[in-house]
Parts: sequence; C-alpha cells; structure tokens
Amino acid sequence: MTNLYLIGNWKQHGSRAAIQAFSKQWSFNANPALRIAIAPPFPYLQALVEALPGCELAAQDCSVHAQGAYTGEVSADMLADLDCQFVLVGHSERRQYHYETDELIAEKLAAAQSAGVTPVLCVGEQLSAREAGEQEDVVRAQLRSALAKSQPNLLIAYEPVWAIGTGLTATPDQANEMHAMIKQEVESLLGASQATPILYGGSVNAENADALFACPHVDGALVGGASLEAASFMAIAQSASNNLSH
Ligand code: PGA
Repeated sequence: MTNLYLIGNWKQHGSRAAIQAFSKQWSFNANPALRIAIAPPFPYLQALVEALPGCELAAQDCSVHAQGAYTGEVSADMLADLDCQFVLVGHSERRQYHYETDELIAEKLAAAQSAGVTPVLCVGEQLSAREAGEQEDVVRAQLRSALAKSQPNLLIAYEPVWAIGTGLTATPDQANEMHAMIKQEVESLLGASQATPILYGGSVNAENADALFACPHVDGALVGGASLEAASFMAIAQSASNNLSH
C-alpha cells in the first residue's frame, strides 16, 4: 500500500455558507500518503479551494468536448485550469438520470486524461444483479467498455448502486472480493505494471470506515452523505490515516 484516497462527493449540495461552516471545523493534518479531495458542485470549486487549503479538488463530471457551443457543459481543460486534480466519471446517478452510456463514459475518461485531470471511474451493479449473482459480470462489462480508450492514469470507485445513499454498505468481504476482481481485470486491460487504486463507495461513514480501509484491496473511499459534515468526514479521514500501513 502506498497511497490511500478519500474523496467527498457533495452531489447537488452546498452553498457559500456551508463551505465556510465546513472550513471552520475542518482541521486535519493529512499524512502525505493520504490524498483527500472534495467534489463540490461546479460553481463552488473555487470557493472550496480557497476555504480548504490542503484539500484537493475534484469535479463531479466533465464534458467529452474540449470547448465549443455546448451550453451547460464544463470541459476537463477548464477543470485543469482551476487546478482540479480529479473528476468523477460515470457516477451511477449520471448513468441513471442523464442516461450516460459506457461509450460516453469512455470518451469522458479520455477527455479527462488528455487534460491532465485524473478520472475516477465509477462502476457498480444494481441490486437485481447482486441478487442474481451477476455482480462480477456487470462490473467487468462496465470496465471493458469504459477502459477501451483509457490510459493507465486513473482511479476506480466501486460503488454498488444498492449501497449508495441507502445506509446499506457492502460488507468488507464483498468490497474486497470485488476490488480484487477489478484489479485483475484492469491489469489485463491496461497492462500488468499499472497498480490502479480502487476506492469503495456506498454509505461509507465514520462507523464502517475502519473495517473497509482495513481490507487489503480497498485503497480509499468515495463518500457522499458523510462528506457533507466536517466532523464525519474528518472521522473517516482519521480511519484512513490509521490504516495507511496495510
Ligand atoms: P453515499 O454516496 O456515501 O451517500 O452512499 C456515495 C456516492 O454516491 O458517491
């Protein structure tokens, strides 16, 4: 284990007042091997970086286009211009509410990489697939199409859809098993020399973080609800920090 990653996904939450309140409570001396980032809605990227020095910036999405007449879109180059280190790509809420396909996700991944922003590719199965025992097939298929044009520079977040925002978490064994499969698949797709960090996401909180970070194949977490409050996000960061040596 070299680095652990902790990324807060604020989704469509936040305000200037919320960022100020968060920054007043936030005090965490991260070990350099623990990379902490927050993905606020686009309008708050600048305010967040000013309010939380030491915390890296992530965006929740990017366009496939570098620039042009695409109303409402934000390019990966613009994110790079704001010193955004990471961008989520293919989050299940984008797949569900914006009908993002694996092909589009592959293009977004390539756009982020060519702009120098590290994509965090989100994959994960629906509850019906887990119940049918098809979770590995689903995730493998997502990886194969999303990584078709990818360079090795990326993170992957395994987020079982049934665990997102539901309070249900994959057990550490379920997460670890899936992460091991993802690592193997990514190695065969992108080359064996590449160790791609795999983050777990889906109802991570201060109570379950320790057990998840203790898993050998869990290299970090993508945290939604529990990243909105500085206290719970700091507690998760502390768990990550305690587990850095595994
Ligand atoms: P959650 O969200 O932690 O609220 O389940 C995780 C995510 O969607 O990234």
